[in-house]
Amino acid sequence: MAKVFNWQINREMDYWYKGVRPERQFGAIFDINKCISCQTCTVACKTTWTAGRGQEYMFWNNVESKPYGFYPIMWDVKALSLLGAGEWNGDVYAGKTIFESAPAKERVLGWQPTDYDYAHPNIGEDEVNKAIDTGAYMTGKHAAWMFYLARICNHCTYPACLAACPRGAIYKRREDGIVLVNQQHCRGYQECVRACPYKKVFYNAVEGVSQKCIACFPKIEAGEQPQCFVACIGKIRMQGWINPPDKAQEDNPIDYLVYVRKVALPLFPQLGLEPNVYYIPPVHVPDYFLTQMFGPGANNAVETYLKAREDKTLAGIFTLLGSTKFTVNYFKIEGDEAIGYDSQRNEIARVPVTEPVITRASFDEALQIGRHNIT
Ligand code: SF4
Ligand code: SF4
Ligand code: F3S
Repeated sequence: MAKVFNWQINREMDYWYKGVRPERQFGAIFDINKCISCQTCTVACKTTWTAGRGQEYMFWNNVESKPYGFYPIMWDVKALSLLGAGEWNGDVYAGKTIFESAPAKERVLGWQPTDYDYAHPNIGEDEVNKAIDTGAYMTGKHAAWMFYLARICNHCTYPACLAACPRGAIYKRREDGIVLVNQQHCRGYQECVRACPYKKVFYNAVEGVSQKCIACFPKIEAGEQPQCFVACIGKIRMQGWINPPDKAQEDNPIDYLVYVRKVALPLFPQLGLEPNVYYIPPVHVPDYFLTQMFGPGANNAVETYLKAREDKTLAGIFTLLGSTKFTVNYFKIEGDEAIGYDSQRNEIARVPVTEPVITRASFDEALQIGRHNIT
């Protein structure tokens, strides 16, 4: 085991390989508050990459309803139960990661899903955390809640899948940090499936190899965002690049949301993988649940997000989500507009921070039509 620094748990930790950060790291923002669970992203990925034999059960992108939705069943409950109660000491994780709690002769603390675990891709959809009492929905803020969690591979800085493969068949690309399974090298040992706590590597029994989200790398190489990002109806996603914390750039939208405003957080940072999809937590869910899921910064992130309407920079970045098919490398707020730029600082998106409200006559004399919705 080597010692590596994981900024999300704010300490050194054990990892199977030496820590070498890529030249740049694929990163993403998902605003949970905007997700409507339409599954357009799921289908966009499915029809692009996993329509083949042996891939029937694969969902490289899935959207599950929390707290009772999972794919595969109970993936997060099992990961957390294995790990035990992890305590945070302020912003330093005091518990053990899945690398540090690996049993003797194993590299990662993991578990292998069964066929049954994969049999219900959208189980628990729209279920709330408890029964709604009569009238509960009338009283403003209430204790019944649920939310949608869209998930892809996190292209982790310290991938458990990569650490666990005895063949060395999984690699992290130096040029963009995307994690891939070498299909020629893989022999189907499935240690990667067992190790990934997010369960984002899938075994293809027809091909005898494991397969996973490839971050749509042919699109990334062309300066475009992945399929599940551009297809997103709710415009909850933005793909870009995340720098290490000591190299954070204020005009990089991902760095800005993650490091400067701390409003976008990693999923289960305590597992120790330094995942690179960053979530804006749902605003209506109790602190204890969000803290367990996104770490100790969850409450602050929600407070910051709730004030975004009065904050032109934050509101501007949020309007840039889903505004272009190109990867947004930089951003600027100019007057009442948010502007996105590509890697060469060419303008690729320009959107109004405040959407104009247009009120039209309920009866249009020119067209001789009546309208029900006039704003
Ligand atoms: Fe590997 Fe899982 Fe991390 Fe993806 S989310 S890089 S499959 S450990
Ligand atoms: Fe699928 Fe591409 Fe999204 Fe990965 S990034 S889940 S490959 S659409
Ligand atoms: Fe390695 Fe996973 Fe293949 S453990 S051999 S990449 S199935």
